[in-house]
Amino acid sequence: MSDENDVVEREKELAARAAVEYVTSGMRVGLGSGTTSAYAVKALGERVKGGLDIVAVATSKDTQALAISVGIPMITTTVPLALDLTIDGADEFDPELRLIKGGGGDLLHEKIVASASRREIIIADHRKQVQVLGAFPLPVEVIPIAWTLVAKAIRGLGGNPVLRGAKGAAAGTPFITDEGNFILDCSFGPIREPEALARDLEPIPGIVEHGLFLGYASEVLLAVGDRVERILPPQKGGARG
Ligand code: A5P
Repeated sequence: MSDENDVVEREKELAARAAVEYVTSGMRVGLGSGTTSAYAVKALGERVKGGLDIVAVATSKDTQALAISVGIPMITTTVPLALDLTIDGADEFDPELRLIKGGGGDLLHEKIVASASRREIIIADHRKQVQVLGAFPLPVEVIPIAWTLVAKAIRGLGGNPVLRGAKGAAAGTPFITDEGNFILDCSFGPIREPEALARDLEPIPGIVEHGLFLGYASEVLLAVGDRVERILPPQKGGARG
């Protein structure tokens, strides 16, 4: 592994461990997906072994399997009406703590769990902080039969959608989400008005969910080198999207 990779992995773990410190006995906890969240799940497993008494809900099948393997008691039926705290990663966050998520394909469950969470802590390494969202192509989850129609509509909004391929499979094999859908990775260039883009995407038939998380993050724990910085949104309130 290169030095840069080492730094990033250390930062992910530092941010994850800092977030897990906020978990206390009696909480219902949401567990995010992706490589950074995996550090949080493992750290939470250590605390559960040490006596922490919680129940958790996962945002993906992978996270669920990992959480069970480290001994975290899981709710596996429906997402509870209220969760005390969710810890999740992000692909990008801006100064207003607006996020792009879904790089791992789990945006739908992540947004559902975030919507039930009183507090959503985003854990990030230094690469995730941006001034303007959009260098990371926006993941959009679509119903398979609608993907070409949705792609056309997204091109009409100025985006460049690419059907995500399954890792390690033959070329042309689409990635399939936990809910059996496809993902379009959509480059829009700099997204200066995420709320407007979210409003444009939401009515398109066939879109199940998009990876703009607006008004969900309560805070970001950003690890830069050996330091973890806690970043709060500039102001509280506002609609979620
Ligand atoms: C999963 O679909 C995503 O939303 C992840 O939370 C996001 O991609 C961050 O993943 P990493 O922690 O692996 O960078």
